[in-house]
Amino acid sequence: MNIDRRRFLSGLGSSGALLATSSWLDTIGYAQRSRGPARVSIAPRYGAADLDRRLFGSFLEHLGRAIYTGIYEPGSPLASPDGFRTDVAHEIRELGVPIVRYPGGNFVSGYNWLDGVGPKAQRPTVLDRAWNSLETNQFGTNEFIDWCRSVEAEPLLGMNFGTGTAEQAVAYVEYCNVERGTKWSDLRRAHGYARPHDVRRWCLGNEMDGPWQIGQLQAREYGRKARDAARQMRVIDGRLELIACGSSGTNMPTYLAWDREVLEECYDQVDGISLHAYYGNTPALTGNNAGRYLAMNLDMDRQIHEIAAVCDYVRALRRSNKRLWLSFDEWNVWYRARGGDAANGRRQIAPRLLEEVYNLEDALLVGGFVNTLVRNADRVRVACLAQLVNVIAPLVTSHTAVLRQTIYYPYAWALRYARGQVLDVRVESETYPISGAGLQADFARSEQVPWVDVVATHDAQTSRVSVLMLNRDLDGDREVAVEWSGGVKPSRVLTCETLAGPDLKAFNTFEQPRRVAPQRFDPPAVSERMVFKLPARSYTVAHLAAD
Ligand code: AHR
Repeated sequence: MNIDRRRFLSGLGSSGALLATSSWLDTIGYAQRSRGPARVSIAPRYGAADLDRRLFGSFLEHLGRAIYTGIYEPGSPLASPDGFRTDVAHEIRELGVPIVRYPGGNFVSGYNWLDGVGPKAQRPTVLDRAWNSLETNQFGTNEFIDWCRSVEAEPLLGMNFGTGTAEQAVAYVEYCNVERGTKWSDLRRAHGYARPHDVRRWCLGNEMDGPWQIGQLQAREYGRKARDAARQMRVIDGRLELIACGSSGTNMPTYLAWDREVLEECYDQVDGISLHAYYGNTPALTGNNAGRYLAMNLDMDRQIHEIAAVCDYVRALRRSNKRLWLSFDEWNVWYRARGGDAANGRRQIAPRLLEEVYNLEDALLVGGFVNTLVRNADRVRVACLAQLVNVIAPLVTSHTAVLRQTIYYPYAWALRYARGQVLDVRVESETYPISGAGLQADFARSEQVPWVDVVATHDAQTSRVSVLMLNRDLDGDREVAVEWSGGVKPSRVLTCETLAGPDLKAFNTFEQPRRVAPQRFDPPAVSERMVFKLPARSYTVAHLAAD
């Protein structure tokens, strides 16, 4: 017999009173219990659509070694005739990255796309002012489209709203998407691309609220520019999906006000708005406390809810039928290789910039971010792990090999296992305090956070269920009792793996590439109530047949 869901939920009224009534966490399905295993009730979500695969996209910027020596290294024994690194392309194809944002990032705000097309010998070397690096333009839009086709990813192109005009942005769309018979489409054809690239999704600039951004704008100025450019773009191609620049972080003084003002100007012309966030285990944010650090994905939940609320507010003001979706098109851990030498290219070609080395605790938090994206998949349609190769990335290249950093694994699990409908997950868990002297308990605006974080999906086409579980407890195992209801009935365990280890600071190197890697995990027998014993500080996936 199925565990009665109503009984479970009403049980929260007593055991879960604290979190359920006083915490923001109840809005994402979490309630507190005082003792014992976490209780997780999993049922179908009424009316849920299949999650958009673009939720697990990534990002490549002309920055450091992301493009040059990352995905493109002509002359390398590992390169294809086009100059693409075949080992890297193989990894990305195997991951199944659905969409890749390009060419920036901060870089795009000073980029002239015309410098990167046409005969390579005639392309100029320019000084990129975002990262003080030399840009040879040997890789540009057409190479990117070819590369995307080769790894079976969709391109998500960014436009220069810094030094660039609306005219240049519109010309870019014409170059890419019009078949023939116009100035810019015929230029593309002259460059050897007879068929249009048919790029559907475009970012209208990057982080235009940031004082670091080339050509930073005020919210209303940006909103009007976005509206004007978008209106023209839709004349060129009526099928575009356009993403306005939202706040570049929750720490911006204009956070939410920027988003509101921008949308008041351009709501009718755009389809989505961007969110960005980077996290770190820093003295200021966490007091270097790993327990606080592993709660940071709840901050991402909060950001999603807050930006969605602004979108809906403007929608109501405009009496619009259209519901905007969110594009979380930059997210990751990034705090060590940041600023100073790590961000200054010193006028070199492909300098080593932002080469963050990821450890186990970073990978666990990235697992938490995956969970946050999955449970918000009804609103977040596109998201991009920033970035993909060498620059704050899951993959790192040497001239002869490619290395999987720790964060590769939770990202790969998301791509492989989180498919189909997002299931409704209610968690009743013990909690732990994250407040500390001098530190704000920002994460989900709560003093207490649950030890475990759980999401689940059901792929009706293949009859597979996946459960992704984060155990934030640094010192001990945590039991999670999963109770299935509403017709979700697993029959067999297909895979069960965990990412864990004794040293939260352990990382992978070319010499020791599997120091942090998934291990097999003994799953419980399949039943209506399955008790998983999650190892201390771990991220675990269970993949089950449900036929
Ligand atoms: O991803 C690195 C940088 O972070 C991007 O260029 C910028 O958009 C963000 O600030």
